[in-house]
Amino acid sequence: MEKIIDEKQQGNSLVMEPKTENKRKLFIESYGCQMNFSDSEIVASILSKEGYNTTQQLEEADLVLVNTCSIREKAEQTVRKRLEKYNAVKRTNPNMKVGVLGCMAERLKSKFLEEEKIVDLVVGPDAYKDLPNLINEVEEGRNAVNVILSKEETYGDISPVRLQTNGVSAFVSITRGCDNMCTFCVVPFTRGRERSRDPQSIIEEVNDLATKEYKEITLLGQNVDSYLWYGGGLKKDFKDATPMQKATATNFAALLKMVAEAQPKMRIRFSTSNPQDMTLDVIEVMAAHRNICNYIHLPVQSGSDKMLKKMNRLHTREEYFSLIDNIKKIIPDCGISHDIITGFPTETEEDHQDTISLMKYVKYDFGFMFAYSERPGTMAARKFEDDIPEETKKRRLSEIVALQQEHSKYRTEQFLGKTVEVLIEKASKKSDAHWSGRNTQNTVVVFPKENYKVGDFVNVKVNDCTSATLIGEAVGYSENN
Ligand code: 5AD
Ligand code: SF4
Repeated sequence: MEKIIDEKQQGNSLVMEPKTENKRKLFIESYGCQMNFSDSEIVASILSKEGYNTTQQLEEADLVLVNTCSIREKAEQTVRKRLEKYNAVKRTNPNMKVGVLGCMAERLKSKFLEEEKIVDLVVGPDAYKDLPNLINEVEEGRNAVNVILSKEETYGDISPVRLQTNGVSAFVSITRGCDNMCTFCVVPFTRGRERSRDPQSIIEEVNDLATKEYKEITLLGQNVDSYLWYGGGLKKDFKDATPMQKATATNFAALLKMVAEAQPKMRIRFSTSNPQDMTLDVIEVMAAHRNICNYIHLPVQSGSDKMLKKMNRLHTREEYFSLIDNIKKIIPDCGISHDIITGFPTETEEDHQDTISLMKYVKYDFGFMFAYSERPGTMAARKFEDDIPEETKKRRLSEIVALQQEHSKYRTEQFLGKTVEVLIEKASKKSDAHWSGRNTQNTVVVFPKENYKVGDFVNVKVNDCTSATLIGEAVGYSENN
């Protein structure tokens, strides 16, 4: 499952380098996970060939696309609110067309057209190559819908246009879909079955980013550890592959090694890992390559075996501990973060205490915590009553958020007095006189700008910290520079 960008956060409308011959204007914004942001770059690339440049001015757009998330009800409500805003803008810009992409498009399908009159176009995550045809339909006055999920589509042949403007970090998607069927999760329904992208096209994209002077890439997938290339096709059909295909298949550890060795100066991150699929060879590849960051996002969802089982997470609490122990044994300073859900059906105070004790064992660097939100169509929605009162979910949530705050503080304090390598990404939000970047463990570091610039690798001595940020001063370029 993909790391999520908080649904309370406004969607991000980003722009690409304009092409002078393009006359039409596309406003595209994304909600939800990094995969959605990455998909929007594929969409912008497809539409750039159709005469569209991106704009950040909603009022001047010919086409507005919103890439949506269904993970929790709140994420969907945020998108509905945005549609109201588009509606208001359409009064002054009546020719503007509106399309919905992503997970909500896939979940609601043509129902969207009935429920939201402003919507002209509904396109699911595997149908973006059909956008030019669908837009033609809309221009001829018809609504258009394509929500067909695919067995093969990985968009490996499309070179994304980069909508992130810092020119330093980029996302590279490696798998699509998810086969895990966690009972709370809508993703297998909105993004389809799991399939992996050709390693050759991944390496080409990474090499291209290096040529363009990108310094950090994040390999993306709902479940990266499950990556498996055997010539194309669904992961679940691997069992029927030929002996030759089986013998030459590439798994995630092998892919990670290939990418790290293809570009030894590029920082490599990946997200998201699933404890049931993460193998020791991945951790060993991380340890053996200095450019692979020492950071793992390892969602656990609950510390109670009973809940894990009910969630169809295929590992126990003890197995999770032993994975954590192995990570810390092989990479002692590895940063680890989590996702946790409170108030899953039938969760008792004892189950909740199990989550608390698990957190105390791991002392995560940071985490993403959510109250359970029942999603229509999921196994949990069909089989279990959403029986934990909202106040209880919220109270448990605030308890784990407070505990995480303590652990984050404990973790950042471990860096006091130490020197860490930082890749500069942007000016600090709080002070224009400071740079902001991250260390290998993915913790944000801020320090005075001096003569350094975005994209530099700098050694920073840490003098102070909050629970979320290290504060320091640069002591020189790092050897990676
Ligand atoms: N309710 C609450 N949180 C959810 N997540 C996924 N589905 C739900 C849901 N129905 C959380 C999980 C996942 C993260 C991306 O979102 O913790 O890892
Ligand atoms: Fe990403 Fe879709 Fe999942 Fe939201 S529901 S986190 S957009 S895969």
